[in-house]
Amino acid sequence: MNVLVIGGGGREHALIRKIKESPRLNQLWCAPGNGGIARDAQCVDIKVTDIPGVVSFAKHNKVDLVVVAPDDPLAAGMVDALEAEGIRAFGPRKDAAQIEASKVFSKDLMKKYQIPTAGYEVFTDPEQALTKIRQDNTYPVVIKADGLALGKGVVIALDYEEAEQAVRSMMEDKIFGESGSRIVLEEFLTGPEVSVLAFTDGKCVRPMVSSKDHKRALDGDQGANTGGMGTISPNPYYDEETAKLCMDTIFLPTIQAMNSEGRPFKGCLYFGLMLTPKGPRVIEYNARFGDPETQVVLPRLQSDLLDIMDAVIDERLEKAEIRWSAKSAACVVMASGGYPAQYRKGIPICGLSEDGQVEGAVVYHAGTALSGGEFLTNGGRVLGVTALGDTLDEALDKAYRAVSNIQFEGAHYRRDIGK
Ligand code: AMP
Ligand code: GLY
Repeated sequence: MNVLVIGGGGREHALIRKIKESPRLNQLWCAPGNGGIARDAQCVDIKVTDIPGVVSFAKHNKVDLVVVAPDDPLAAGMVDALEAEGIRAFGPRKDAAQIEASKVFSKDLMKKYQIPTAGYEVFTDPEQALTKIRQDNTYPVVIKADGLALGKGVVIALDYEEAEQAVRSMMEDKIFGESGSRIVLEEFLTGPEVSVLAFTDGKCVRPMVSSKDHKRALDGDQGANTGGMGTISPNPYYDEETAKLCMDTIFLPTIQAMNSEGRPFKGCLYFGLMLTPKGPRVIEYNARFGDPETQVVLPRLQSDLLDIMDAVIDERLEKAEIRWSAKSAACVVMASGGYPAQYRKGIPICGLSEDGQVEGAVVYHAGTALSGGEFLTNGGRVLGVTALGDTLDEALDKAYRAVSNIQFEGAHYRRDIGK
């Protein structure tokens, strides 16, 4: 099979590493990829949002499967465009990707189909939103931009001042562009968070092993929300009983709801859950593999990912072989100093081998570039240093030992992943 992966982060590197294990693979490309991915696949200089560019490349290079990993091209209809040309693609169509691309759509869907989630109200006018916040006078209040915002469109305001600043910056200053023309005010929930990625062909849903992200920038869950600073799998809070409850009250009802809406979801559906004292609630859906969840989930997959993706596309997932390792996995993200705000790029990374790896771990490259054989930083999240172990402690120990061998100026990572 000739395979093209769309994207260029740590998630895509993890997908590529797993796809490379398949005996069915012939050629592997990644658009645009990054410095580390270039060691595992042929990188092609096409932007993830360049739909005609991707379609044309796939046609001219006899690509058998395009794996669309990031949210923007899914929301923009890349899968629809590929299918229209008879090219097989893994990922939801545009109408199904709305489950992530619009918080208003996903909240209304959950309300209509009684899928447990935080209570909410939608606003298109900042003054009305602020009046509501003053009336309720209950903090923290959760404020979400309707559209895509690189994982940064959620503010948990502890008082009115913070809430007002968030509402005005989203709706008036448009810091997330049109994503902030509508906002959702949400009830604040508490409890451990769980990420469950699931394969689905629109008929059945096959959850992958669970994981836990660490979204805040600093130790002790302090600092700004980021795309994710590290992950572990399995998630220790997610037991079998909870998994069954989530299947019955969340996973299956979501698949059925999307079918009832005439938007069958095919691909990887990400359930961001909170295990509240009143039971599991959906915090968010993503229409794709999570980043950095993929970096701890896929290393535990023992079956052929290309077979599974084929089964999803052909709607025969129910019978597909999907086996998981009982090992634990941990991923520590090494980020550029300053991330998620301003940071520098182009800083040399020391301690990586020529392949961009270190002994005892797998290094997924998130934001690196190759220059004259040397790896340079080229993004906010730079590396996802990942290890497997018989226990979580062993996996964490290996991952942190590998991290200690890698240096770049300003490198920042959390020291409490999995703690
Ligand atoms: P999201 O991008 O929707 O996953 O939100 C980012 C983070 O904000 C989540 O991982 C939660 O930690 C937090 N969050 C989002 N919604 C809520 C909520 N209703 N109650 C409490 N925390 C929330
Ligand atoms: N790690 C959270 C996400 O992928 O959105």
